[in-house]
Amino acid sequence: MFDTSKRMEALPFSGIRVMMERANRMQREGEDIIHMEIGRPDFDTPQVIKDAAYKSLEAGHVFYTSNYGTPELRAAIAEKLTRENGVEYKPEEILVTIGASEGTYCAIAAFLNPGDEVLVPNPVWLNYLHVPEFFGAVPVTYNLKEENNYQIDMEELEDKITDRTKMMVINTPGNPTGTVQSRETLEKLAAIAKKHDLIVVADEIYEKLIYGGVKHVSIASLPGMKERTITLNGFSKCYSMTGWRLGYAAAPVDFISGMVRVHQYVNTCAASFVQDAGVVALREAEPDVQKMVKEYERRRDCAVKALNAMDGVSCRTPEGAFYIFVNVKSFGKTSKEISDYLLDHAKVATVPGTAFGSMGEGYIRLSYACSYERIVEAMKRIEAAFKELKK
Ligand SMILES: Cc1ncc(COP(=O)(O)O)c(C=O)c1O
Repeated sequence: MFDTSKRMEALPFSGIRVMMERANRMQREGEDIIHMEIGRPDFDTPQVIKDAAYKSLEAGHVFYTSNYGTPELRAAIAEKLTRENGVEYKPEEILVTIGASEGTYCAIAAFLNPGDEVLVPNPVWLNYLHVPEFFGAVPVTYNLKEENNYQIDMEELEDKITDRTKMMVINTPGNPTGTVQSRETLEKLAAIAKKHDLIVVADEIYEKLIYGGVKHVSIASLPGMKERTITLNGFSKCYSMTGWRLGYAAAPVDFISGMVRVHQYVNTCAASFVQDAGVVALREAEPDVQKMVKEYERRRDCAVKALNAMDGVSCRTPEGAFYIFVNVKSFGKTSKEISDYLLDHAKVATVPGTAFGSMGEGYIRLSYACSYERIVEAMKRIEAAFKELKK
């Protein structure tokens, strides 16, 4: 038939989806699979948000909105960023997107030329590797190491900067490690970004999923950083709205006017009634978010304790997101082999660490966005399967 374009060679299928599809197939065949592979909250969207969407539809808000998003949602986002993140934005510095995924795409498409280098973490949410490659840009990875509690190593990062480096991506709390980059780390990073005149793309989609009193810091709030930072965020994770496809970018107007030109040709705008619901999420759903956070923390503690008690397995206690990055090096197998083994023998779906980059070798990612009871059951099954493997 027809060949795909050359640039499609940079677009593999996601390793997460590959695992999920295999797990779903087994489930359809009657297996009792525990899904710990996907980063999708298991909670329903809070009722106030759903009610806002129903109301919006009933009021006839069913038409295109401005490419930038509705004035109401942009104002609510700007207010939120000022109130919660300590960065003053005006509504015109906000672009409403179809999830943070689209924000990522627009930022990269609008600002990277072929050959430009972008610093990205390793391991990382894969879009930050493949979207730059799609546009001929070069992702240069900086390593997040377990022994460093996955904090960014400044020396290593700075060593990787060349005269082609234009952008740096940070993701805190991070996928897949769950690590929250400390204020100290971010201050050092800010100094490097200023010294080398880099655009910073800060993915803060997990900002509210944070435990044990740890504080999230937005790099844009540090002195001299707003002018070079594109902050990406979305409603999927913190409000349990993955299917609603709503996100936003916050940045100075010059960045936004570049990004909106990509957005207008791909999506036009986010769904009108979804945007209305987004306003209510930001203004009224905090108590619901905090209930979810409490439950995630309970699940995290349960899984981390169980994993660290298993022979040959260890993990850090992640401070944020809903992932645990588990060290399984002692089994002497690849991450992919371990993930496949757990799916086949424990019927627990996980993601091989290598799905997030080369630094993921020897690790698997578990998502605790599934019920406490299923986590307890999963831990029993994993422990039994690993005991078998050690024999
Ligand atoms: C770090 C990170 N950024 C962005 C996204 C995408 O979120 P959205 O549903 O808003 O497109 C994800 C989803 O897994 C993620 O892990």
